[in-house]
Amino acid sequence: MRYGYFDDERREYVITQPDTPLPWINYLGSEAYFGLISNTAGGYSFYRDARLRRITRYRYNNVPFDYGGRYIYVRDNATGEFWSPSWQPTRRPLEGYSCRHGLGYTIIGSTYQGIEAQTRYFVPLGENLEIWQLTVTNRRREVADLSIFSAVEFCLWDAQDDATNFQRNFNTGEVEIVDDVIYHKTEYRERRNHFAYFACSSFSPLEGGPSTTSPLKGGPSTTSPLEGGPSTTSPLEGGQRGVTGFDTQRDVFLGPYRGWDNPAAVERGQSFNSVAHGWAPIGSHHVKVTLQPGETRQVIFLLGYHENPRDHKFDPPGSQTINKTTVKPTIARYLDPAQIEVAFGALRTYWDGLLGILQVETPDVHTDRMVNVWNAYQCVVTFNMSRSASFFESGIGRGLGFRDSNQDLLGFVHMAPARARERILDLAATQLESGGAYHQYQPLTRRGNNDVGSNFNDDPLWLVLGVAAYLKETGDWSILDRPVPYDNRPGSETPLYEHLQRSLRYTLERLGPHGLPLIGRADWNDCLNLNCFSDEPGQSFQTTTNKDGQVAESVFIAGLFVLAAKEMEQISKSANQQISNSAIRNPQSAIRNPQFYLDAARQMEAVVLEHGWDGEWFLRAYDDFGHKVGSHECEEGKIFIEPQGFCVMAGIGLGDGRAEQALESVNRLLATPHGIVLQQPAYSRYYLHLGEISSYPPGYKENGGIFCHSNPWVMIAETIAGHGDRAHDYYTRINPSAREAIGEIHRCEPYVYAQMIAGRDAPTHGEAKNSWLTGTAAWNYVAITQWILGIRPTFDGLQVAPVIPASWSGFQATRVFRGVAYHITVNRAGKGNAVSLTVDGQPVEGNVVPLPSPGQTEVEVQVTLG
Ligand code: GLC
Ligand code: GLC
Repeated sequence: MRYGYFDDERREYVITQPDTPLPWINYLGSEAYFGLISNTAGGYSFYRDARLRRITRYRYNNVPFDYGGRYIYVRDNATGEFWSPSWQPTRRPLEGYSCRHGLGYTIIGSTYQGIEAQTRYFVPLGENLEIWQLTVTNRRREVADLSIFSAVEFCLWDAQDDATNFQRNFNTGEVEIVDDVIYHKTEYRERRNHFAYFACSSFSPLEGGPSTTSPLKGGPSTTSPLEGGPSTTSPLEGGQRGVTGFDTQRDVFLGPYRGWDNPAAVERGQSFNSVAHGWAPIGSHHVKVTLQPGETRQVIFLLGYHENPRDHKFDPPGSQTINKTTVKPTIARYLDPAQIEVAFGALRTYWDGLLGILQVETPDVHTDRMVNVWNAYQCVVTFNMSRSASFFESGIGRGLGFRDSNQDLLGFVHMAPARARERILDLAATQLESGGAYHQYQPLTRRGNNDVGSNFNDDPLWLVLGVAAYLKETGDWSILDRPVPYDNRPGSETPLYEHLQRSLRYTLERLGPHGLPLIGRADWNDCLNLNCFSDEPGQSFQTTTNKDGQVAESVFIAGLFVLAAKEMEQISKSANQQISNSAIRNPQSAIRNPQFYLDAARQMEAVVLEHGWDGEWFLRAYDDFGHKVGSHECEEGKIFIEPQGFCVMAGIGLGDGRAEQALESVNRLLATPHGIVLQQPAYSRYYLHLGEISSYPPGYKENGGIFCHSNPWVMIAETIAGHGDRAHDYYTRINPSAREAIGEIHRCEPYVYAQMIAGRDAPTHGEAKNSWLTGTAAWNYVAITQWILGIRPTFDGLQVAPVIPASWSGFQATRVFRGVAYHITVNRAGKGNAVSLTVDGQPVEGNVVPLPSPGQTEVEVQVTLG
């Protein structure tokens, strides 16, 4: 069943029914100010850090679900009836409901009793504010006398404290209301220098209608009823168009024991002009409008965040009143519909630019849609958010993950290399001198998170993959020379290159009894906690370590190490050629020889083949007793996906048939119609020595769920083994667009990947959870674009080595690589994957397009496959 459709032309997903199985959300903002918005206008906003600078309040796991957001009420003043054009929170039966989630914007609209209302929500580039642009049209035969109410609930900044520390925060809320703008200024009187604001234009007519000026823009100036003494009537009442009232105290606006579905102010058709002091500050405007039949008008709401210099917080100085001089021009600007159009155009251009880096035309609509629009979009959002804020990530739990961010970079680096560079340097600066890494860091402080700490032994290796991807994309070798501190400690800087060396050394210095890498707290699989041994309810599996960790080893880390060491060999080789004054000759660097990394890779490969092979597939690990995990000898958890994908990606077992065999085993034992499960058989009981993985009921998450992040590793491995049909088949099984038709089973958004789809052991096999923020986005993007379509940046140029389904006659692509547009046409001449390349009409050896001479901006690439 479908709940909407893809509008491919407009790059929108159109939801046509508000009661989707779960809230289907979108993200607003791309730099510092962000918002999450559901298809019924639920969600919240924050500035940079979803925990520490939460602008609006959101109650996760609320009843009813997804209740609280960016609400607009329309009230028919003749009858007293009121409704929400976004369905929630009033949930009246709407006609023509639609929610268009686009790239960085969402448009929600509907018609109720002949009144059409639509709101476009977006964050202009470079601004710390969001626009809600409401358009109301009277489709009745008679005049409509309407009231519009807006509503947001402010968060008292620290979302964690806001949701727990009521003895304090019921007493701290403060606002100012000036010129129809509601300023939320809790804690501004003391240590904060930031505030939020919620502004509203009065109704301004669309072209042709009678014009009204906003009280903010040089029009007849109005004073707030609060200035010069409390007053309860609004200055704009009595026939004038404009903001006729406001509310800022939640419980006055709603009325006692009422919810957002039935606010007292809306019901009675008049704001209370309440002023919040303590309790729960909100922002609500009341605007009255009379619409002739067929008439359309719009009203604009702005919700924003602003910081003042610490010594210019107050105006007049010495008062407790917010200095508004720097924020006022911004507010005035965006209450102007013409400016909004400009900003919206700029947003569209921005996304066209990002997505224009790679566009493809293949025989498969689901591939095109995901590659050209939605998967790329999700990669950007995931890069921005890491795992902090989604409808499954509360924004207070996790900062940016070290391994997560490095992997997110793989799907993002081609779109914004400068930001990828910055992220790499931030990540590396949280690395420890030992080469180890904090598992997470806070985006606002850029400091490692001490509560979670370190010792996830795969973490440092991902930095090598992240940097390799950056170098291949950009050719910017200078990054290797960049001095970067350890643990952000001034004076500890070494060139970034040495960080990479230490990452690899970290593994080599932590080998276990079989010569495989020690696993530490966990490797990529956060839930395989072989040193945890927790029998204490509530204890964190991630941070509890009851064993000294000198025995349990990970075959997955071994595979990752081989891949990283091979990348490092290439990096040091190319860097040797590229930079004369190179970090590689830094006397501090003990290891500076490309051969060293090749040898290290080969040695580890040999260890994997000797101790990490189970007969028909790669083993997963050795536990603290030295027993095998992920072996046919085990009772449960006999085979795991991760080492099959990763070892083959690293090239292990390619020469001797073991890679093929491992992939066959995956197909036979792990593949389901909904994707490849993480392991089988799922653990049916709790194993003290395995940890969190066995804490989940069978079929969920790491315990035999389809943990989508690891599926593309198998897709890539299949392409390396030359199996285009199988690679694309796996790709399609979890492709959200291809799953759109089974929306009632999948349940999550059909335009983005989810972290998990319930495995075959779960009662709801095929049900997705944890959409949006997942390494699945980057890895699927890499699998389809770089390995199946085969358009792959290398240190020396753009490689084109497609491994596509046999039934495809070919495809076309445009890829901008290091500033040059490559127009690629692939034609299938035979069933195989051999590539013959013609570049600008000239045949070229191999499958790497040589870098064009300076000045050339377009390259024609013809590929014959067979
Ligand atoms: C989550 C984590 C990621 C981990 C994965 C598997 O997605 O964010 O770091 O690798 O789970 O446990
Ligand atoms: C839980 C989840 C795992 C996630 C981890 C993050 O263990 O199962 O997916 O990576 O939490 O802390």
